[in-house]
Amino acid sequence: MLITRHAEAGAVLADTRYVPPPVRQDGAEGTLAWLRAQVSRFSTGDSHAGRRRLLEERLTTLDPAELRAAARAETRQRDENWRGVPTAVLGAALGVKDTTAVPAAAAGYLLGEETPEADAAVAELLELADLPAITLLLQGYAATEGLIEAALRHAEPGDDIEALLHETLRQDPPLKATRRLDTRTGDEVTIDLVAANRDPDVFPDPGRFDASRGRTPHLTFGYGVRPCPAPAHALALAAGVLEGLLP
Ligand code: HEM
Repeated sequence: MLITRHAEAGAVLADTRYVPPPVRQDGAEGTLAWLRAQVSRFSTGDSHAGRRRLLEERLTTLDPAELRAAARAETRQRDENWRGVPTAVLGAALGVKDTTAVPAAAAGYLLGEETPEADAAVAELLELADLPAITLLLQGYAATEGLIEAALRHAEPGDDIEALLHETLRQDPPLKATRRLDTRTGDEVTIDLVAANRDPDVFPDPGRFDASRGRTPHLTFGYGVRPCPAPAHALALAAGVLEGLLP
């Protein structure tokens, strides 16, 4: 089933009878499959709550204002070559000195594409960091870079960076869809975030990119049982890079 309306998407995301499609639990220790079986993102019930709490605790040790300042400085230092900056800054704040393995591990993380490259990258990260830090780095990587890329497409001179980011998240989200399994029927449900964020019942003139909307109830950071625990961190990293790039 495909869900495109905002109200229906919110209802599914807030209903514990809908769970992330289960991932295999029999991966060899230290592989991508094993990692996916350990993390909050693909767990349910008490196991999800406990794992999520650990991540939230870790996130409280990170100051979004410091992430933003570090991302701005690092972007300027790299002479506008901003890719990798959000991950390097987040990694440094989490005590992870080398984040070069993150893109290869992240490539398989969300959809479970198990490759020798992804397994090698996960093994490398496990040498350098604990599980909560690895989870945060892998979750944040593609979405944060995708947000910056999209915001740069929409940026106009003199834009307020927060307003630009909020409207980019709504109108041109870096994450296009999320999936759930209906535990009563076994049916898979896809929530189309692009469509839900353009629901005319919620957003007037929804197709128009209009940074003056400010904060809106878009669903790009998720909603309900398991929303993104790090929207402030994601926004800080993206804002810092944009400040480093835009005049
Ligand atoms: C623009 C950037 C980001 C976007 C759009 C985004 C979006 C999301 C969404 C939609 C979910 C929920 C998925 C679902 O319900 O199926 C999620 C989960 C998560 N995000 Fe983010 N995220 C971003 C950046 C980050 C960053 C930078 C971090 C880490 C610092 C992070 C950490 C997480 C974690 C750990 C989860 C899993 C939560 C759980 O299992 O309960 N995200 N994110």
